[in-house]
Amino acid sequence: MSITINSAVKLNSGFEIPLLGFGVYQTPPDETEKACLEAFKAGYKHIDSAVMYRNESGAGSAMKKSGIPRSDIFYTSKIPQIPNSGNDYEKTKSQVDLSLKTASVDYIDLMLIHAPYGGSANRKGVWKALVEAVEEGKIRSIGVSNYGIHHLDELETHIAELEEERGGKGKGGVISVAQYEVHPWCARTDIAEWCAKRNIVLEAYCPVVRGKKFDDPEVKKLSEKYGKTPAQILIRWSLQKGYVPLPKSVTPSRIQENAEVYDFSLTDSEVAGLESPEYSPIAWDPTKSALDN
Ligand SMILES: NC(=O)c1ccc[n+]([C@@H]2O[C@H](COP(=O)([O-])OP(=O)(O)OC[C@H]3O[C@@H](n4cnc5c(N)ncnc54)[C@H](OP(=O)(O)O)[C@@H]3O)[C@@H](O)[C@H]2O)c1
Repeated sequence: MSITINSAVKLNSGFEIPLLGFGVYQTPPDETEKACLEAFKAGYKHIDSAVMYRNESGAGSAMKKSGIPRSDIFYTSKIPQIPNSGNDYEKTKSQVDLSLKTASVDYIDLMLIHAPYGGSANRKGVWKALVEAVEEGKIRSIGVSNYGIHHLDELETHIAELEEERGGKGKGGVISVAQYEVHPWCARTDIAEWCAKRNIVLEAYCPVVRGKKFDDPEVKKLSEKYGKTPAQILIRWSLQKGYVPLPKSVTPSRIQENAEVYDFSLTDSEVAGLESPEYSPIAWDPTKSALDN
């Protein structure tokens, strides 16, 4: 598999997404600019932030200070969703404007719905607001995060309904990206298949499992074989599965290390062999929440 740090893939929206992203969850707001600038220096062109991370501003100022043309950077944010929040259509419309202002950007490359909470009508309203923001040029691509198959199926129904209500094909929006905790101990094969069938790009969060699996015997074996660190083996696994991994670090040496994954390749059987039958997410898991939550 021949990929480089500059490799990108075309989304259903028609825009391209760089295959390697840089996560900033739990990066303190006052350290985010510095961490993102380190990432740009190491060759990343893709930042994954969220309203809930409270660091969109640092990500935005790093984009400006990097000297990299805005069009060469892919910037993601996420609309927060908490159970029974009533964070509906109107709130999403204002949040999109606020996120543009906070990051000081003219457009957001990708806006995701952070989680499937809020109930069916609410999810439809949030999606509709994002579809309108795309039409207004505020956002280029849209998608979801932490949606279970039942939420994804419901979203397709909502898209069909919006097409009816808003005047035809395309008016319901297109799903470009779906973001999940994905690594060998949380492979989410059912969701990966659902997305692959529809050409939806799957982004993998917690790609280095927050360092919790570096002692796994299979990871250690491959680490020794290739002379690469456990984190590099796990990021390479994600890339070779066809996913977009989003490793996070505030440590300059690790930011660099996590981007040095293009001088080796796992065999197909090593990729398959790493995958465990376990279902062991280490972060939250809203995919399991009920439709009325
Ligand atoms: N949509 C969602 O609900 C959701 C949820 C979680 C995450 N995400 C996104 O996905 C990104 C990544 O997930 P994550 O941050 O939870 O987990 P992660 O990237 O798997 O792990 C990050 C942790 O591992 C450490 N680390 C990173 N690279 C390392 C290396 N090479 N060697 C040793 N330790 C290393 C980091 O430490 P230091 O920072 O101290 O170096 C940090 O504590 C997030 O930042 C966020 O953008 C999305």
